Amino acid sequence: MAVAVYPGSFDPVTLGHQDIIERSSKIMDKVIVGVLKNNSKSPLFSAKERVKMLKSVTGHMPNVEILAFDGLLVDFVRQCHADVIVRGLRAITDFEYELQMSQTNRVISPGVDTIFLTTNLKYSYLSSSIVKEIAMYQGDISAFVTPEIALKVLERAEAVKKGARLAE
Ligand code: COA
Repeated sequence: MAVAVYPGSFDPVTLGHQDIIERSSKIMDKVIVGVLKNNSKSPLFSAKERVKMLKSVTGHMPNVEILAFDGLLVDFVRQCHADVIVRGLRAITDFEYELQMSQTNRVISPGVDTIFLTTNLKYSYLSSSIVKEIAMYQGDISAFVTPEIALKVLERAEAVKKGARLAE
């Protein structure tokens, strides 16, 4: 059985991420979406909330599982008994960083390979930070995330503006 891990911050999950999950789930027998817990990016949502949001948008895909992880990605891949890591490439600017990560992962854990899916052109400009920035001004984010995620992001952005603390 071919198992892939698709890791990321997913703060929040966007339509671009969903596109990668959907397409990789058609290629692989199983896709485990790994939500990074301890993130230097000061997330808007806790890992638990991000897992819940991902579960709600992937519920229709029976071979997709969502798990939070901490520590090294290669250790998580091993724990999951996965064969490969899946990453999306949006533009040439992603390439250098992704190449460095995939090469490093192979050096520290020989045998762990990374496969890349080119992000759908529709979402090639998209990032979670852009979604959050627009939400901070209560702008329209409906082209970037599902309606239920949009609601959560706009609510959280408003709360943060009013002084609520960021997720731990
Ligand atoms: N559609 C939309 N946005 C996309 C996307 C797509 N298809 N693919 C990537 N992005 C965006 C994300 O939204 C994110 O935006 P942001 O920076 O505004 O939050 C950005 O691209 C990249 O983030 P993401 O894909 O979530 O990866 P990351 O860089 O936050 O984390 C990990 C990557 C989790 C794989 C990496 O940090 C990791 O492995 N950490 C564990 C520790 C470890 O093993 N370190 C050694 C690595 S060599």
